[in-house]
Amino acid sequence: MAARMDSAQLREIVRQATAAPSIHNTQPWRFQVGTDRVDLFVDPSRGLDVLDPTGRQRIISCGAALEHARLAVRAADHDAVVHLLPDARNEDYLARLEIGETQPATAEDRRLLAAMARRHTHRGAFDAVSVSADLLADMTRGAAEVGVVLHALTDPDDLVVATVLIDRADQLEAADPAYREELSRWVREDAEDGIPTAVLPPVGPRTSLPMRNFEGAPARPGGSGEDDPVERPLVVVLSTDGDGRPAWLVAGQAMGWVLLRAAADGVMASPLGQVLDVPVTRAMLARELRLLGHPQMVLRMGYPVQHDSARTPRRALDSVIDPPPG
Ligand SMILES: Cc1cc2nc3c(=O)[nH]c(=O)nc-3n(C[C@H](O)[C@H](O)[C@H](O)COP(=O)(O)O)c2cc1C
Repeated sequence: MAARMDSAQLREIVRQATAAPSIHNTQPWRFQVGTDRVDLFVDPSRGLDVLDPTGRQRIISCGAALEHARLAVRAADHDAVVHLLPDARNEDYLARLEIGETQPATAEDRRLLAAMARRHTHRGAFDAVSVSADLLADMTRGAAEVGVVLHALTDPDDLVVATVLIDRADQLEAADPAYREELSRWVREDAEDGIPTAVLPPVGPRTSLPMRNFEGAPARPGGSGEDDPVERPLVVVLSTDGDGRPAWLVAGQAMGWVLLRAAADGVMASPLGQVLDVPVTRAMLARELRLLGHPQMVLRMGYPVQHDSARTPRRALDSVIDPPPG
């Protein structure tokens, strides 16, 4: 049976949803709020036609927002029932989140909610401490709850393969003027969306894997000076059996959960999206890593050497919540 929440509580659920990560911070979502539910829609007008022509990454972003909303409902001591793609006639209608009966939040629900305020994309260097086996096991379990496989690149040869393919994808993208033009439109200051330069690492980040270069030129791992930390990032690939809207949505839910579970332990992440933007490098990654399914996200994870204080902005709630009909 569905239960009611007051409008302030429901707005708070949406606010937590919008704290989710999204490709280029496009925040490609819309919400409709009832007394006992929150409906999530993808907003195709906020798509990236060059980087993401199929809409895969915007649906993944919405999946992460759905997971944030689900955890916010749980942390408010309610059961949360998720119905994915509830209307076959409207493909933009991604999910209905029903507020269920009163059900006390678990300690884990509360920890993950608290982690929402701390989680952010960290593109700088990580320190030399490896992510623990316990955390990896927990993240693997959490992803599996929604049918997503988390594959850790523990074999050094696999890391080399991933690095080469990310680098190749970076070069292909940087050589495309349309890609560069689209990217430059989303790196901006004083806006409610997009990526402000304050969250990007200074030139030559000391990372061991090629990060997306938001200035458009091919990115290279930064040069390492004598005092540079030797980072040992954990690199994981999230993959799904299928490769359409249902798969992209659950990949986003799994990513949302994994990033919060990691942040709860002080572990931050940066997606290494380039390799999956480009169809040929995406296919090669799946083949070379012998993945059974379709790779949806590649995440580099670790303990930040330096905690960055800058955060990406979010749109005002009234811009993302549709007014009630009538
Ligand atoms: C599907 C997806 C792909 C992403 N790809 C990249 C990427 O390739 N490189 C990167 O630096 N950040 C990437 N990000 C991170 C976003 O830029 C980031 O989530 C957004 O700017 C909001 O910032 P926050 O995560 O700090 O809240 C990606 C995020 C999502 C959801």
